[in-house]
Amino acid sequence: MTALFTPFTLKGVTLRNRIAVPPMCQYSATDGLANDWHQAHYASIARGGPGLVIVEATAVAPDGRITPGCLGLWNQEQAAGLQRVAAAIKSAGAVPGIQIAHAGRKASANKPWEGDDHIPTGASGGWDTIAPSAVAFGNNLPEVPQAMSKDDIARVTQNFVDAAIRARDAGFEWLELHFAHGYLAQSFFSVAANQRGDEYGGSLQGRSRFILETLAAVRAVWPAHLPLTARFGVIEFDGRDEETLKEAITLTKAMREGGLDMLNVSVGFSTPDANVPWGSAFLAPIAARVRKEAGLPVASSWGIDDPAVANRVVEDGQMDLVMIGRAFLANPHYAYHAALALKQERPSWVLPAPYAHWLERYQRA
Ligand code: NDP
Ligand code: FNR
Repeated sequence: MTALFTPFTLKGVTLRNRIAVPPMCQYSATDGLANDWHQAHYASIARGGPGLVIVEATAVAPDGRITPGCLGLWNQEQAAGLQRVAAAIKSAGAVPGIQIAHAGRKASANKPWEGDDHIPTGASGGWDTIAPSAVAFGNNLPEVPQAMSKDDIARVTQNFVDAAIRARDAGFEWLELHFAHGYLAQSFFSVAANQRGDEYGGSLQGRSRFILETLAAVRAVWPAHLPLTARFGVIEFDGRDEETLKEAITLTKAMREGGLDMLNVSVGFSTPDANVPWGSAFLAPIAARVRKEAGLPVASSWGIDDPAVANRVVEDGQMDLVMIGRAFLANPHYAYHAALALKQERPSWVLPAPYAHWLERYQRA
């Protein structure tokens, strides 16, 4: 058995292998509701053999959606739709996970294939955005957000808690808090986005407060036997990388002490001017450093689509789980093809029995 196909246990949950599908927005919902597209999409990738499928960034409040097409979890009707998605993922043998999110100053945007630009307040489909400070992201998102009051902060933390309860009751067994990618939580951590003078800004302790308070509030309602994870941008590639990374590792340790079970290591994307060194598995050494120095299991992604590379990053102890995103869109049976490429003894058995039985004979033919 190669490292990529060994099971992985976190808390009371065991994944059948180390392949996870990371959250990937489908921008295909209306009023935050999952529909036939979400059902078909998630069922299709879950049956392709990954151990874990994490449902896309799902907004904890209407103003936390990136686009009008984003999923939401701020009401029971949305929870009922997502319950069917969780059940479909589970019936295919993968563990159903979900990422809950607030987009902050990157909210109120058009779908990527409809321009990816900001929808101004007052325009059809647009809404006011909120952030730690009244500082615009820039580029395609030029609108200045409203700086959050302490009441706003408390309300959004409660939104995360309510969404976590709904996710739990809908049958999700793995929760990822979206603290990355320049959205609300990452903006609190970012020195570029957070210019507050109160206890939610300034020092590392201040810029960590929203994240740690939200984590603690969710931990109190999320079952102890189920993994509570977060995605967090530990580096910006903006020229102050070592400083950011050191601060991020300090915050990750605090998150671990606050009950975080795993970190999905990612990029901050807090500024449009970053110089990201895109390339095969470019984040793997950074994930490995976080794993070692913060002392908790990590997952990561970014260009890990070659099965040999995916296997190597697990074998070398750089990460515990490999997040394979766009390769699963290209080929929903990615895990099966990875098992073939890595010459697993019975590759078809990464698929559910109704496929595996026949493919075993088909491969032999
Ligand atoms: P953009 O997707 O607008 O990308 C910013 C720049 O980075 C563009 O020049 C883009 O190139 C380049 N780029 C982005 N991803 C890649 C990649 N994987 N490989 C090579 N070049 C890339 O930035 P955003 O700030 O909107 O998103 C930041 C990242 O988060 C992106 O990588 C995106 O894929 C991902 N994402 C996260 C979401 C979430 O967390 N909810 C939602 C959607 C995307 P080009 O113009 O050629 O694409
Ligand atoms: C993403 N990504 C992303 N990340 C996240 O944390 N929440 C999300 O909802 C999304 N949405 C999303 C949509 C689409 C269409 C893409 C392509 C990407 C980032 C994604 O999870 C992953 O980290 C990247 O795609 C990099 O991994 P791959 O594709 O190189 O394996």
